[in-house]
Amino acid sequence: METDKKFYIKTFGCQMNEFDSERLIFLLKRNGFTQTENINSADVVIINTCSVRKKAENRLYGHIGNLKILKNNNPGIIICIGGCTAQNLKDKIQQDFPFVDIVFGTGSISRFLSILEKRLETGRIVCDTSGTEISSGNYFNTLFSSENLKTKKYNIPECNEINYLDASRSFRFKAFIPVTVGCNNFCSYCIVPYVRGKERSVNPSIILNKIKNLVESEGVVEVTLLGQNVNSYGLDFINRQYIDGDFGRFHKDINFAKLLESLAALKGLKRIRFMTSHPKDFSDELIRVISENKNICKHIHLPIQAGSDKILSLMNRKYLIKDYLLLYEKIKSAMPDCAITTDIIVGFPGEEEKDFAQTLETVQKLRFNRAFTFLYSPRRGTAAEKLKDEVLLTEKKKWFSELIRVQKRISLEENLLLRSKKLEVLVESNDIKQKGLLKGRLDNNNIVHFYSDNSEKMIGKFAFVKITEAKSFYLNGELTGK
Ligand code: 5AD
Ligand code: SF4
Repeated sequence: METDKKFYIKTFGCQMNEFDSERLIFLLKRNGFTQTENINSADVVIINTCSVRKKAENRLYGHIGNLKILKNNNPGIIICIGGCTAQNLKDKIQQDFPFVDIVFGTGSISRFLSILEKRLETGRIVCDTSGTEISSGNYFNTLFSSENLKTKKYNIPECNEINYLDASRSFRFKAFIPVTVGCNNFCSYCIVPYVRGKERSVNPSIILNKIKNLVESEGVVEVTLLGQNVNSYGLDFINRQYIDGDFGRFHKDINFAKLLESLAALKGLKRIRFMTSHPKDFSDELIRVISENKNICKHIHLPIQAGSDKILSLMNRKYLIKDYLLLYEKIKSAMPDCAITTDIIVGFPGEEEKDFAQTLETVQKLRFNRAFTFLYSPRRGTAAEKLKDEVLLTEKKKWFSELIRVQKRISLEENLLLRSKKLEVLVESNDIKQKGLLKGRLDNNNIVHFYSDNSEKMIGKFAFVKITEAKSFYLNGELTGK
């Protein structure tokens, strides 16, 4: 489909949704579309929304009135609602918002152009929410057949997964790479397993070659591996034997630690990040691999969700607080400077004052570098939706503010420890409003603001900064020599 058409895209949601949008942008641009920031000049408007919490859904509803006006003024415009919200609410969207032209799910992105064509041909609303973009890696059996293993012959299969990792990038020097899609954990509050399906891992040879190419040909120095639960990577492969081809090693049981280890051997790849990790799947081997490799960033996002065993069990998290504490200790004793960040849900059904007090106590004990806190938001079809929820919202909000207050102080205190240290940042962006002000990211994922006369030229480069001031969520610094 060759075209001079323009598209506008807005994403409300998580990093996986962001990645889906980047894939769509890649696909549309490759097929002649241009991206516009001005919704009024667009021919195709895409809203991609995550459904993990109600907030993103509400933002979609907040926008939908404007979309209706847009369509009234310009009936030729194509309005598309996508992402896991669309998948989840496809009937409601079609019923309540008849001006929407296309409803597409997370598994329909590579088909987006044919969906668009179908809409143009038929003039009817198209709803495409079935399908998955990647299947599990069963063809491992043939790829690494005993014949291949004997001769150590290595080849990359022709398959759709190659396309799965093709995405437009907002940053020239860093890339986000999903390594797993979907989730098998069924935490009782969470909608992800329903909207993203069973966990599937992307073939390791495809990941490795994609990243090798990004580093060698496109100047990428940092990658972030994404997945709902990255550390269960590879468990869905039937035959887990694997040779990391160009990287030359044989792995008997491919897993996340081995994938990381192979990537860490890649010359020119300066930083490897990954998220999110589930505490129940965080192995000793993984701790060893992170601690032994300089280019694997010392930052682990390890959601705890609650500090009470009763609530963890109701959440179906499959660990007790003592297990989390033990893991935390293991990580810190192997890597004392490793930043650990977390997610916490407040006001889960059945949570009482004493459960919340345990969460607060755990937060005070563990001193996370940062915690992302969420008020429990009931999601349709999840197990927790059916649990009795007796605590008043006003009470939950009180707990929530208390937790935020305590964590903000801890984050500040932890950041204060970095004052006057000389640390390396990867310079990410400059401030649009303030000339010369740059933002860089430390190995531990903290953001540092600093000034430079040469700000344009520094983006994408590494620099040393001396930390001069600490805030709860960022640091200030000044440029310094090594
Ligand atoms: N309500 C509140 N928070 C939620 N999360 C996931 N589902 C819900 C929900 N229904 C939070 C969890 C998860 C993060 C991505 O979002 O803390 O780790
Ligand atoms: Fe949701 Fe739990 Fe899977 Fe994370 S691990 S995506 S919280 S079900």
